[in-house]
Amino acid sequence: MCGIFGCITKEGNVAPLIHTSLKRLEYRGYDSVGIATIHEGKIHVKKDQGKIDDVHKIWNLDDLPGSIGIGHTRWATHGAPLKINAHPHMDCTEQVAVIHNGIIENFSELKLELENNGHNFVSKTDTEVIAHLIEENLKKKPEIGLVNAVLEAVKRLSGSYAIAVISTSEPDKIICARNESPLVLGISENAIYCASDMPAFLPLTNKAVWINDGELVIISAKGYEIRRIDDFSVVTRKPEVIDWTPEMAIKQGYPHFMIKEIHEQPTTLRNTLRLQEHYLDLIATFLDRAREVFLVACGTSYHACLAASYMFSKLAFLATYPVYASEFIEQHGKSVNIDSTILAVSQSGETADTLAAVTCAQQRAATILGLTNVIGSTLTRVSRVYISQQSGPEIGVAATKTFTSQLSVLAQLALRLAKKRGKISQDEMDYISEKLEKLPDIVKEIIKTQEEKVKQLAKKYRDAKIFFFLGRGISTATAYEGRLKLMEIAYVPSLAFPAGESKHGPISLIEPGFPVIFICAKDDTHKTLIGNIMEMKARGASIIAIIEKDDEAIKALADDYIEVPKGIPEVLSPIPFVIPLQLLAYYLAVEKGLNPDMPRNLAKSVTVK
Ligand code: M6R
Repeated sequence: MCGIFGCITKEGNVAPLIHTSLKRLEYRGYDSVGIATIHEGKIHVKKDQGKIDDVHKIWNLDDLPGSIGIGHTRWATHGAPLKINAHPHMDCTEQVAVIHNGIIENFSELKLELENNGHNFVSKTDTEVIAHLIEENLKKKPEIGLVNAVLEAVKRLSGSYAIAVISTSEPDKIICARNESPLVLGISENAIYCASDMPAFLPLTNKAVWINDGELVIISAKGYEIRRIDDFSVVTRKPEVIDWTPEMAIKQGYPHFMIKEIHEQPTTLRNTLRLQEHYLDLIATFLDRAREVFLVACGTSYHACLAASYMFSKLAFLATYPVYASEFIEQHGKSVNIDSTILAVSQSGETADTLAAVTCAQQRAATILGLTNVIGSTLTRVSRVYISQQSGPEIGVAATKTFTSQLSVLAQLALRLAKKRGKISQDEMDYISEKLEKLPDIVKEIIKTQEEKVKQLAKKYRDAKIFFFLGRGISTATAYEGRLKLMEIAYVPSLAFPAGESKHGPISLIEPGFPVIFICAKDDTHKTLIGNIMEMKARGASIIAIIEKDDEAIKALADDYIEVPKGIPEVLSPIPFVIPLQLLAYYLAVEKGLNPDMPRNLAKSVTVK
């Protein structure tokens, strides 16, 4: 998730305005920054790695000439956070500059084709192909003009993008286009802006025009023109007046980042389906060859590892050991060796306990693999191979969208491994892959249909002093995650167990009205779980069940239930089933008047042991 911004102004130089607007987009990512302007037939660029203020101190971003320009603040997805990968990216002739937010899925094929046509690439990004495609179109048929050159280029892209392009060939225009990445125009008396998000221009104007998927925009000093990418037909859309405060705009109208990020999951899950195959394959190969595999992480990332151990076992018949990173050295520090493989999972890539475990394993010659959300983090530097989960920055302290993305990546890895090891049928693999593709829509549906119900549940159980979370099989991981969310955000003491364990002790806590949340995936554990529900019910517990739609057997036992769509394969079930639990934690915190974005005593990234 990067921030893009472009502007044509009638008053003076545009660079200082782009600089301050990018500052307001820094919450979308900040590992490198760049600005390009056009002046006297030439594109002028300043860019570097680092935060905007640090780059500005070295390069003075305001000191670029011209009244038209584009700027970018980056959250690395392809290519390390280095100067060379910072946007804007240019073509070979330095006549086209492009900024981009999103992921171009087919960039490797396009790059190869363009290289074969003599284009010279300087970065490792997916974005650079766009500049060269436009150059190629202009070179082949100069008469088509910039707008058509951009139009033909975007028609060849698959994946997500919001782009803004400037070119010396038509120095009075910015051309933008959008597919699955946000893009909005700002309209004021003296300037027109395009940006990833409204906060970029909100102090300058409250008149906004939202651009939809499949649209291209031509911006000039005279105004803006929207066209459909498929047939170039004109779209008429007037500006709307927005009455959000800058604070509200950053949260896109949501009251907190946590709920915004919960709602972002259909998008983030779609992004995890755009991973680079090559890295998935490499990691699967390492896992396949390892004598023993440890899945090492903390907190929510540990719960993803726990779920992954079921995925690897059920799909690839590979035993893996999920270990709390903070315990790894004590538990396995002496035995880990050259034949061990560590898959470290960390959203931030900076968690001290995880890195300490990795260092210990590395010193004993183990292979280190990483899964993280932050390219350039320490974990990416110490891993032999890593995968970036592509969730974009997560601001709420509670991990939500990053958890479901981790699960999706791990499921994809398990499927790769299953294929390599030939353990399950092609039909089964195809079925799970198809469902994985549908998860973004399934999650959207859950939020749409169940959010209000969860809100009411939060009201009903507002004063509960304790909760139990129970599940069997892979749903144990979901139960643990539901408990962690509730404890950290709503400060409600909670317990989670594999449901089969409850009768070995915890059940003695149950008295009438005690709320017990059951995660009831429709898998092989379903029948036994019904028995566990009955045990609790017989002792007067209030049963809250997360069920598949129309699961009548459990509906009949539950005091309250939340439904997720039917037919979700067992190994994917934590993704949809955790959504109601994230919402419950959020709404219980709100009910109690707590700020879910800033739970006491916690930090987003825990860099002490
Ligand atoms: O950045 P990491 O994934 O390594 O962070 C691990 C935990 O600190 C993190 O998941 C923490 O438990 C969150 N607050 C959970 O919501």
